Amino acid sequence: RNFLQMLGRATLITTFGGLGAFYYISQRDRHPGNQLPFDSSKKTLVVLGSGWGATSLLKTIDTTEYNVFVISPKNFFLFTPLLPSVAAGTVTSRSIIQSTRYITRHKKRVVTVIEADAEEIDPVNKTVTFRDSSEIKGQVSLKTIPFDYLVVAVGAEVQTFGIPGVQEHACFMKELSDAERMQKKFMDCIETAAFPGQSEEEINRLLHFVVVGGGPTGIELSGELHDFLEDDLKSWYPELASKIRITLVEALPSVLPTFSKQLIDYTESTFKESKIDIMTKTMVKEVKDGSVVLQMPDKTMKELPCGLVVWAGGNKGRKVTADLMAKLPEEQKNRRGITVDEYLRMKGTDGTIFALGDCSATSYAPTAQVAAQEGAYLARMLVQIAKKDALEKKLDSLEATIESSADEEEKKKLLEDVSATEKQMAKVKLRPFHYTHQGSLAYIGSEKAIADLPFMNGNFASGGVATYLFWRSAYLSTLFSLRNRTLVASDWLKVKFFGRDFSRE
Ligand code: FAD
Ligand code: NAI
Repeated sequence: RNFLQMLGRATLITTFGGLGAFYYISQRDRHPGNQLPFDSSKKTLVVLGSGWGATSLLKTIDTTEYNVFVISPKNFFLFTPLLPSVAAGTVTSRSIIQSTRYITRHKKRVVTVIEADAEEIDPVNKTVTFRDSSEIKGQVSLKTIPFDYLVVAVGAEVQTFGIPGVQEHACFMKELSDAERMQKKFMDCIETAAFPGQSEEEINRLLHFVVVGGGPTGIELSGELHDFLEDDLKSWYPELASKIRITLVEALPSVLPTFSKQLIDYTESTFKESKIDIMTKTMVKEVKDGSVVLQMPDKTMKELPCGLVVWAGGNKGRKVTADLMAKLPEEQKNRRGITVDEYLRMKGTDGTIFALGDCSATSYAPTAQVAAQEGAYLARMLVQIAKKDALEKKLDSLEATIESSADEEEKKKLLEDVSATEKQMAKVKLRPFHYTHQGSLAYIGSEKAIADLPFMNGNFASGGVATYLFWRSAYLSTLFSLRNRTLVASDWLKVKFFGRDFSRE
């Protein structure tokens, strides 16, 4: 009895303690305190973007020594790994975004957040020109500001290879609006197929969903759509569900080329069980309104009728990145993006422009993991740079005083100061960026995930339901804030109890 009483008390204390901590953290985060004001004696750091790289930088950086400006057309951070889940209705869109001001308002010195597209970067005069491209415009919608340091973290856009019809007829899976648009179109296809009098051929077309690209985006999206079909649509559209087909088209000989062979085989066999057709060595040559034109492995052409095409064909640099690179044609020739040195400094500049994440061309894959590590690294480096700059400024002023001084005693004292400052400067070390790969994870549907994890100088590959639970806990812990974690966890619970919401807005 004593033991049971103790257990009861411990449970009560833990529950209330947990709830108390939860309440405290949520309220602390909701009500940030005062910040140091703008200081014209400090250097100006401009950050372009509010994605993985920029957000990680903003989260880590000590803003005491900088006036920071963030310029991005989105005033939020988007947790891209759960974007396919939004498209299938497994999580809601608001759960995976977090306002940029949520981070910047917690910094020591005030950070100015500007919702705008950076249009032009002048690496010589050190200015950025940006435009408010939102629907509502004020009297001013174009502005140029100077910078001392610039971080380009604008990510990438979708690569379409100029294939006809992709921009016009396909949905993408890159931005939050893409996932929302895809979800609406997906449900529209189903409701249109349910419209009375539709021919069998038309129903089959409308219920055929084609995903182009067998990279992780295409795979995760196909897996999520399959779950939506199995868990929900079969119950609510019993007359149509058996006719729904998902086809994944990939130009290469296999899907997921960056994963280990064993996991590629596992994914392909899971898709086969899930009745998701995989067409490898098949290239999409055109997307039409109602079909895709394919070049088959034997080079013949085939037109596949379908209701919806989702394009997940990879990344391409943005215009602002290409324009900046074009200003430094000698050093910036890589078509994948901005070439940087081991300190993430853009080659061809004087070391005041940095690039990170998907807009840069490095030996690493364009992933969130890389961008986040680069952002955190750069934040630490900028603090060191501020120290170095301050010491350099001190040295300059000491040297100027020595030159103007006639007093030998004072000169001697100043020279001692110079030598002490030089010693301090030598201690400020700028270490090159080092990436630590923590593994690759992907959800493949049917409550199964795959993981390639580094293990004792080798690789540990695993796939299945246990990996799925690991995938979920890994993403839950990587999510940005307590708010995001709570919302995503409650979305998952909601879907478990009540299923996905299939009503079309
Ligand atoms: P982004 O995160 O794309 O951020 C770019 C920012 O720049 C955005 O805020 C954008 O609004 C802003 N911007 C755009 N144009 C301008 C402009 N002109 N001026 C100023 N700002 C601009 N990686 C993983 O490691 N694991 C995963 O599970 C994973 N899942 C993914 C799932 C999907 C569906 C997608 C699309 C990608 C996924 N990735 C994943 C890749 C990952 O999202 C990217 O590698 C990562 O977002 C790159 O970070 P970034 O900061 O370079 O760019
Ligand atoms: P990707 O570049 O990895 O894959 C695109 C695929 O589309 C390629 O395999 C390519 O061969 C194929 N393709 C291109 N054009 C085609 C055509 N015309 N016809 C048929 N196939 C065509 O792009 P993805 O999946 O968007 O990923 C981008 C980056 O984001 C990658 O670095 C990836 O690792 C990362 N990412 C990681 C995830 C994870 O770790 N779970 C999830 C999603 C993305």
